[in-house]
Amino acid sequence: MCGIVGYVGTRATDTVLLSGLWKLEYRGYDSSGVAVISDGEIHMKKAVGKLKVLADILDKEPLSGSVGIGHTRWATHGEPSAENAHPQMDCSNTIAVVHNGIIENYLSLKEKLVKEKHLFRSFTDSEVIPHLIEKYYKGNLLKAVRLAMNDIEGSYAFAVISTKEPNKIICCKKDVPLIIGIGKNENLISSDTFAVLGLTRKIIFLEDYDICVVTNDKISIFDKDDKEVERKPSRVNGKMIEADKGEFPHFMLKEIYEQPKVAEKSIKRRINHNENFNPFDLAVSEGEFAKTSRVIIQACGTSWHAGYVGKYLLEKFCRVHTEIDISSEFRYRNPVLSGETLVMAISQSGETADTIAGIREAKLAFLKVLSIVNVMGSTVARESDDAIYIHAGPEIGVASTKAYTSQLIALNLFSLYFSKLKWLIKEDELTAKLKEIELIPKKMQQILDKSDEILEIAKRFHRARNFIFLGRGVNYPSALEGALKLKEISYIHATGYPAGEMKHGPIALIDEHLPVVCITPKSSVYAKMISNMEEVKARKGKIIAIATEGDKEVKNVADEVFYIPDCPESLSPILVALPLQLLAYHIAVLRGLDVDKPRNLAKSVTVE
Ligand code: AGP
Repeated sequence: MCGIVGYVGTRATDTVLLSGLWKLEYRGYDSSGVAVISDGEIHMKKAVGKLKVLADILDKEPLSGSVGIGHTRWATHGEPSAENAHPQMDCSNTIAVVHNGIIENYLSLKEKLVKEKHLFRSFTDSEVIPHLIEKYYKGNLLKAVRLAMNDIEGSYAFAVISTKEPNKIICCKKDVPLIIGIGKNENLISSDTFAVLGLTRKIIFLEDYDICVVTNDKISIFDKDDKEVERKPSRVNGKMIEADKGEFPHFMLKEIYEQPKVAEKSIKRRINHNENFNPFDLAVSEGEFAKTSRVIIQACGTSWHAGYVGKYLLEKFCRVHTEIDISSEFRYRNPVLSGETLVMAISQSGETADTIAGIREAKLAFLKVLSIVNVMGSTVARESDDAIYIHAGPEIGVASTKAYTSQLIALNLFSLYFSKLKWLIKEDELTAKLKEIELIPKKMQQILDKSDEILEIAKRFHRARNFIFLGRGVNYPSALEGALKLKEISYIHATGYPAGEMKHGPIALIDEHLPVVCITPKSSVYAKMISNMEEVKARKGKIIAIATEGDKEVKNVADEVFYIPDCPESLSPILVALPLQLLAYHIAVLRGLDVDKPRNLAKSVTVE
């Protein structure tokens, strides 16, 4: 999704902006641009495609000046092109704006502005902003920005520079994150903290409807009533994004291989056999948890799949009624939110617009929200009553891998903790289950050690046009996740299905050309899975099975078998995830695709 940076200070502004944009690259984008004020004019450079193109332009023609803004654009309105890239300008090229979000009423605003003789040069919704500011400017830029904000409907964070008041950036936000980085004789703005961490760790998180005037030595913030307010800076200790793939050809592969280490660290942090089992140190009281009779988990994409596994775990271990909802459905469905309900939000980035909106829905109904999140200080973490951090480290590949397995580990630990609070698990049973969790990192490594087997399978199937993934019970969400991983990076159509549902429709697709990935580890539904595989085989489908070491029966049905180490059913989605990730990865690489930055996708989905 679009990323914003801004800088006021004495360093080379174009270099600071560009280095901020590199840090935002992981979010996904298709074009970029910067604008800097110098000699009373706005100088602008834009590029379509990778940031390298913009970097090369700036290398040849640097922009000097002490105030500037930059942007990476992920197209929503208008194709990726130089005209549609940001900054967008007003008619007289005196106001430049970068925007993240969607202006929902831009068509009516544009119509009006066109009638008032404003000249539009792009197909973007964002271009209405500089024109509105131009219209309202009567000698006070701050006032003009506020009036423009009042006209706009939708979600936005935007930053403005103008030759009329050249020493400042004015920025504001609603529903989309925007932060201020405080430096010495210099200040920065950005869509997220990563972009400024190289220069400062003192961060202000702006609130909705805030307008902020940033100069090199002053930050003034005005709330929705235009009252000047103090927003306390936080110290962000998160690591800077390591843009280093090391020995790996792609970030995705590096992140897949990091999983045993990440899992080991997070498990060690959470389990201490000498103490009473309390893995998360949550502010929501034990009493409140114990009373909870219903859980609603809301999330998007891979995080939603983790939440789906969570539903099975919470119902199994805690006997608590658990619903799983896609955030974009939850937020608009007017869900029944009452009683002793705990709402959980799961998000790697912590900035997913729909998930944040779901949290706000729950808070409006006075429900407690517990989130499972990776990025420290992110909006999801800040707006929830409590946050469980998964500590997976920065995930740069667009396809979520190590964050997913870390979410599953957190959900397993959380459901055991919850079960303990409800007096549903005996001490020795709990100890045995925790010991099984502690074995997971080693088992993950065993899988990675024979990843070549997956490469061989990928070689046999990378030309397929469609895939089906089947699973049952706690591994039905694994089937959904396997299909999502494959389609998002290989562009092969794939669908995940509960195996028992296959005969109600998708079985019609099966023929000798269709690979069907059957997730068949040892489990309470193993025999049912084998029957479903027989049904696939009878129709000549090509079966790729993921099964438990030592399982001989599966070989009689499947064309290919990849074995994972034995583990309890509740932990099997964690191990199953690795061969599914590797399969998607190798297929995408064999098809010659950009695995880390697949087309049309963004890492941080900050618009709905
Ligand atoms: C994962 O591989 C996807 N790229 C995507 O589905 C992602 O999980 C989804 O956008 C949710 O993101 P979040 O976890 O940051 O909220």
